[in-house]
Amino acid sequence: MTQSTSSSSLAELLHEKLTTRTAQVGVVGLGYVGLPLAVEFARAGFQTTGVDLDPVKVAAINRGESYIRDVPDSDVATFTSSRRLHATAQTSDIARLDTINICVPTPLRKTKDPDLSHVVSAVEAIAQHLRPGQLVVLESTTYPGTTDEVVRPILERRGLRAGEDFFLAFSPERVDPGNATWTTKNVPKVVGGTTPACARLARALYSASIDTVVEVSSPRVAEMVKLLENTFRAVNIGLVNELALMCDRLGISVWEVIDAASTKPFGFMPFYPGPGLGGHCIPIDPFYLSWKVKEVGFEARFIELAGHVNGAMPHHVVDKVGEALNSHRKSINGSGVLVLGVSYKRDIEDFRESPALDVMAAMALKGARLSFHDPYVPIVPARDWPGGYDVASVPLTPAALEAADCVVIVTDHKVFDYDMIRKHARLIVDSRNAIKSDATNVFKLGAPSVGRT
Ligand SMILES: NC(=O)c1ccc[n+]([C@@H]2O[C@H](COP(=O)([O-])OP(=O)(O)OC[C@H]3O[C@@H](n4cnc5c(N)ncnc54)[C@H](O)[C@@H]3O)[C@@H](O)[C@H]2O)c1
Repeated sequence: MTQSTSSSSLAELLHEKLTTRTAQVGVVGLGYVGLPLAVEFARAGFQTTGVDLDPVKVAAINRGESYIRDVPDSDVATFTSSRRLHATAQTSDIARLDTINICVPTPLRKTKDPDLSHVVSAVEAIAQHLRPGQLVVLESTTYPGTTDEVVRPILERRGLRAGEDFFLAFSPERVDPGNATWTTKNVPKVVGGTTPACARLARALYSASIDTVVEVSSPRVAEMVKLLENTFRAVNIGLVNELALMCDRLGISVWEVIDAASTKPFGFMPFYPGPGLGGHCIPIDPFYLSWKVKEVGFEARFIELAGHVNGAMPHHVVDKVGEALNSHRKSINGSGVLVLGVSYKRDIEDFRESPALDVMAAMALKGARLSFHDPYVPIVPARDWPGGYDVASVPLTPAALEAADCVVIVTDHKVFDYDMIRKHARLIVDSRNAIKSDATNVFKLGAPSVGRT
């Protein structure tokens, strides 16, 4: 057999396994992205193996339990008991898989440079067990060129060639935690393969389990698509946050302005101000792009500017707290401040990069007596916020609201009883426009305060 015949027969064999769902599929990294994906593969009928270094997650899945709110326990239990889903911490299990999707974290270093260490260690583990005929797909958000310049050389170290002996693609994850309408299954999946054969196989894998697959010409384009999406959000949120600060100075409600502007049927899309960006994507991903373009002598000015504006928002919330307390002749120093909501957005439990942590840290530094309530976050451990001590969520009761000198709404969970909060809190700083009525004790971000002295 010639080289090209053998690579095309490897591709045909895998394609056949994917379309008949007899392929053994695997997901490396079973977090917010990887677990929902593994469950969708299992639902589509594939024998699915999840690989994660965290033995607690592996054990939970093998007991049939989910640790992610968007993935019901019942799904994990159904697929583990029917042996369609199985988790392991053994990377050697990768050898028997036909496809491997990489969903490991891509954080930033303190210097805002990309930290690809998780991707590199996952790819090195895969490289050790790589065999002809396997498909590897990177899903972790990263800068354009990662698949070609970082992943491919590691996988090719032992002589196998991408597009000939094994297949390689990038497909950005677009999961939106807490969104019940748009899920892993029905959000279109963008795919870019290293070669047309790679793209065809990645399409076949996703088509079996995800409603719509959108093919682009290369991994580089697919990597850039994700960064456009998240930069679009970061920049527009930065714009509207700056507008909120302008409205604050001008005595105009930014919330009323956005609502009225949103009545324009074309050419406008509402974004809302808030206490700052959080989570694993929007505050981080654009900096992967700005870092990469520095290599080609380009300065990503919108990204840097949005980063400055959004990064300052927690401090504006703290300024509002100072303004609110001042109206009661009090200072932040020594006041009891109750923060409502610490996850980075409503109705989820993830508080990574949450602006609430910066709001809390700044107030702790100014001497506030801090407490918080979040129905989804029982504790903020010392290691996870700059305050440096464990803080546990307190129950949200009329007594707790009445005891606080100021209540700060950082994350507007739907389950909060805002009437009860308004009735019992002495002072409220509302960074999300969660309290709809004007009242002298409510100080909103980006709006004139009725009670301003
Ligand atoms: N969370 C989101 O909303 C979201 C949305 C879109 C894209 N993303 C991107 O998806 C990627 C994963 O994010 P996430 O939120 O799922 O992360 P996560 O932290 O929730 O999960 C990552 C998992 O990978 C495991 N892991 C780390 N290194 C590993 C290794 N070498 N081998 C095996 N397992 C390893 C960790 O133990 C963890 O369970 C990131 O690039 C992120 O930017 C996240």
